[in-house]
Amino acid sequence: MKKHLKNPKALARNLRLRLGVIGCGAIGSRIARSVSKELKGIFTLSALYDIDLVRAKGLAATIRHPASVVSSIDDLIDHADVIVEAVNSTAAGTIVKKSLLAGKTVLAMSVGRLLEHATLFPLARKSSGKLLLPSGAVAGLDALKAASSAGITKLTLTSSKPPAGFSGNAYIIEKGIDLDALKKDTILFEGSVEDAVRYFPQNINVAAAVALAAGPYAVLRVRIMVSPSARCNSHEIFAEGPFGSITTRTDNTVCPDNPKTSYLAVLSGIQTLKGFAGNIRVGT
Ligand SMILES: NC(=O)c1ccc[n+]([C@@H]2O[C@H](COP(=O)([O-])OP(=O)(O)OC[C@H]3O[C@@H](n4cnc5c(N)ncnc54)[C@H](O)[C@@H]3O)[C@@H](O)[C@H]2O)c1
Repeated sequence: MKKHLKNPKALARNLRLRLGVIGCGAIGSRIARSVSKELKGIFTLSALYDIDLVRAKGLAATIRHPASVVSSIDDLIDHADVIVEAVNSTAAGTIVKKSLLAGKTVLAMSVGRLLEHATLFPLARKSSGKLLLPSGAVAGLDALKAASSAGITKLTLTSSKPPAGFSGNAYIIEKGIDLDALKKDTILFEGSVEDAVRYFPQNINVAAAVALAAGPYAVLRVRIMVSPSARCNSHEIFAEGPFGSITTRTDNTVCPDNPKTSYLAVLSGIQTLKGFAGNIRVGT
C-alpha cells in the first residue's frame, strides 16, 4: 500500500495542489515564500523557474522545504497544477497560453501584457484550466464589475508614481523627458488603455485590470503622471453611470525589492490564490 494511504498527514499532503512560480523577482519570490508558509495547507510549492537560474536557485535556498528548480517554462507547467506568472517580459503571454492549453490554472500578474494577446481570453473560456487576474495595486474592481452590467458611461484612471517608478521607460527616453529635472507633478501620457499598456508595459497593469473589470462597453481614459514629491504609487478611479458614481484612491507602498511594483499587488496575488482554493468568497 502506498505510504500516503496509511498516513493521514501524508494523504493531506498529497491532496494539496502543486503550485509553480515562473519569474522569481519581487512578486514571484514573495508569493513563493507565502505559499511555503501561510498557504502551505492548500498548496505545495512544487517548482520554481526563472530565466536567470541563479535567481531561482537563490530563492529555493531561502525556502524551508525547497521546490525543484526547473530549466524551462514547459518543465514548470508539467510540475504544477497552478502556475504563477510573475515575469517582467513578453514571455507572460506564452506562459498563460501554454498553461491554459495544458488545462492548468494560471495566476497572471502581468495583466497589462495580456491585453496584447486577444486570443488568450477565448482560450481561457474553453480551457479546463482557469485564468486568474488579481486586482493588483488598485481598489474598486469589485464595484466596477457590478456596475458594468448597468453600463459605465464615464471611466477614468489617473496613475501617479515617483520618478524611480519610470526609470528606463523607452517612451519617456524617446520623448526626451528628463525625469530628474522635473520639479512638479507632470502628465506623461493621456490616452487609451491599449496605448497606455504599449508605452508603459511594466507600470500599467492596473489600467488593464480596470479595463477588464469594467467590461468591453466602458471606454477607459488613462492618465499617467510623474510626481517628484510622491513617496508612493497612487491610482485614482472615477466611474459614472446609471448606478451612481464611484471614486477610489489607492496609495501604495512601493515594494522594497522593485520600485516599479506596489506591495499591494503582491498581497493581491496571494489573496487571489487563497480565494481560488477557498469555499467562501467575500466581495463581488
Ligand atoms: N497586476 C499588478 O497590479 C502588478 C503590479 C506590479 C507588477 N506587476 C507585473 O508583475 C510582473 C512581475 O513583477 P516583479 O516586480 O516581480 O518583476 P521583477 O523584475 O522583480 O522580476 C521579474 C522576474 O522575471 C524573470 N523573467 C523575465 N523573463 C523571464 C522568462 N522568459 N522566463 C522566466 N523568468 C523570466 C526575471 O529574470 C526576473 O527575475 C511584471 O510583469 C509586472 O509588470 C503586476
